[in-house]
Amino acid sequence: MTTLRYRMLGKSGLQVSEIGFGLWAAGGDAWGATDDQQVLAAIEYALDQGINFYDTADVYGAGHSEELLGQAMRGRREKFIVATKIGWQNFDGERGRSAYTSVEKLIAGVESNLRRLATDYIDVIQSHIDFRDPTMEIFLEGFQRLQQAGKVRAYGVSTSDFEYLKAFNADGRCAGLQIDYSILNRTAEQEILPYCQQNNIGVIVRGALAMGILTGKFTPETRFAKGDFRQRWHDHPDEYQVFLKDLETVERLRQLERPERNLAQLALQFVLQHPAVTTVIPGIKDISQAQKNIRAGQLPPLSADEMRFIDNLVLPGKGRKIWPA
Ligand SMILES: NC(=O)c1ccc[n+]([C@@H]2O[C@H](COP(=O)([O-])OP(=O)(O)OC[C@H]3O[C@@H](n4cnc5c(N)ncnc54)[C@H](OP(=O)(O)O)[C@@H]3O)[C@@H](O)[C@H]2O)c1
Repeated sequence: MTTLRYRMLGKSGLQVSEIGFGLWAAGGDAWGATDDQQVLAAIEYALDQGINFYDTADVYGAGHSEELLGQAMRGRREKFIVATKIGWQNFDGERGRSAYTSVEKLIAGVESNLRRLATDYIDVIQSHIDFRDPTMEIFLEGFQRLQQAGKVRAYGVSTSDFEYLKAFNADGRCAGLQIDYSILNRTAEQEILPYCQQNNIGVIVRGALAMGILTGKFTPETRFAKGDFRQRWHDHPDEYQVFLKDLETVERLRQLERPERNLAQLALQFVLQHPAVTTVIPGIKDISQAQKNIRAGQLPPLSADEMRFIDNLVLPGKGRKIWPA
């Protein structure tokens, strides 16, 4: 069995596994119920298989996802490269205003990320989206002070807004961008991925499975469990039409399914094929998903013919944005 491969995350000095581990679902509050013991077992398995990159956030399960990761890291912190996020807690949706109205508040917020993770440093702290109100500078200055204090090794931002990314990296110190990128959403190929490559910004890909759509396991009849935000695809007629269109694309992709490679693995391989990409963080709930997703990192790259097939299905740089931010 081939082992996982590793890539340098921009200018961070951190060598991360090409396949990472997304811990949003682990919070248990947005993707249907999850079982803590199953998540912990999946982390154990992933670690053993060479996955060293774990992505979470302060708000996933109101902190539960970070706490679980903290539990998994106990006594072996050095085996994990932890990326977490800050920004959404107590966000004022009506005014579109972040609760981090000063650098001091931002630093106190990251101290609470540290407490939940039960660690004294975070490898990569990320601004959870492109927060503008009150200012981006509060995040930048807070992150830089924390870096100087040794509490943060590198920082980045999760956004698909190119102007915001350029401003965030104006001094060249942004180490990582987290972005939605997949066969269904290739928009980052236009400007953002080339910019990251030119500016040595590591790219952490989320959404590579398009919330499970690209695994090929959904049909027009699929319903989602209570507490799973994907049920909105059924509840909103316009979103249901988009869901149906995506399913059609997935049906055509089935031509690339092979006995040794399922559709989810193809979707992960696809994003890793782009030279700007450092790592992909599929959301993982249990050992079986971990196993399948890790396998994608052990397969040989897609062939030129396979890439051409995908290019004909969704043109390079095209597709649809899945998240607004
Ligand atoms: N703004 C942000 O910064 C932001 C936004 C979104 C996500 N993220 C990060 O990205 C991670 C991934 O989220 P995502 O939106 O990108 O989701 P995704 O990886 O596109 O899809 C994840 C979902 O697909 C299913 N799945 C995963 N592996 C599978 C496999 N091998 N076979 C079948 N089903 C599989 C699981 O849910 P089911 O089993 O229930 O289908 C899983 O929760 C999150 O955990 C989080 O760390 C960040």
